Amino acid sequence: MAAARSTIIFISTIFLLATSISAKEYVVGDGSGWTLDFDYQAWAKDKVFYVGDKLVFNYASGTHNVVKVNGTGFQQCSTSSNNGTLTSGRDVIPLQTPGKKWYICGVAKHCESRNMKLVITVLSQSMSSAVAISPVSITYGIVAALFSGLMLTFLV
Ligand SMILES: *[C@@H]1O[C@H](CO)[C@@H](O)[C@H](O)[C@H]1NC(C)=O
Ligand SMILES: *[C@@H]1O[C@H](CO)[C@@H](O)[C@H](O)[C@H]1NC(C)=O
Repeated sequence: MAAARSTIIFISTIFLLATSISAKEYVVGDGSGWTLDFDYQAWAKDKVFYVGDKLVFNYASGTHNVVKVNGTGFQQCSTSSNNGTLTSGRDVIPLQTPGKKWYICGVAKHCESRNMKLVITVLSQSMSSAVAISPVSITYGIVAALFSGLMLTFLV
C-alpha cells in the first residue's frame, strides 16, 4: 500500500516537474515590471529561455508599450523595424521560434534615456524536454519510490 501510494505521488511529481520545465512564464522585471531605469540585461542574464516559454510585460497601460524590433531597432531605439506593438499593460508574448528577440518601449525616449530595452536568446526546446521526460528518469523515479515505500513498510 505504502509503496503503491508513494509510487503514484512520485510519478505525478515527475510529470508536474516536466510540465513546469517545458513551459515557463517569465514576468519581465519580476515585481518591478516593465518600467523606467531597470536593468533588463541583468534580469535576463541568468535565465535560459526556451521555445514554448512566455514573456509577460506588466505596466500601467498608456504609460509604456512593448515593441518587437530587430537588432538594428534595438541598437538605435528605433521602432521602424516594428513587428507588432503591444499596449494592454499585461502583454503576454509566447516565444515561438529560437533565436534572438528584441523588445523596446516605443513611448517618448524610454528606450534611449531610461533603459527600457530587453534582448534575449531563445533556445530550441528539444534538449530541455528530452531531459525532463526521458524514460530513464521516470524508471528511476519508480524504482526510487518503490524502494522508499519498502523502507517505510519495514520501519512502520
Ligand atoms: C531592421 O529593420 C529595418 C527596417 O525594416 C531594416 O532596414 C534593417 O536592415 C533591419 N536590420 C536587421 C539587422 O535585420
Ligand atoms: C513579423 O512577425 C511575423 C509573425 O507574427 C513573422 O512571420 C515575420 O517574419 C516577422 N517579421 C520580422 C521582420 O521579424
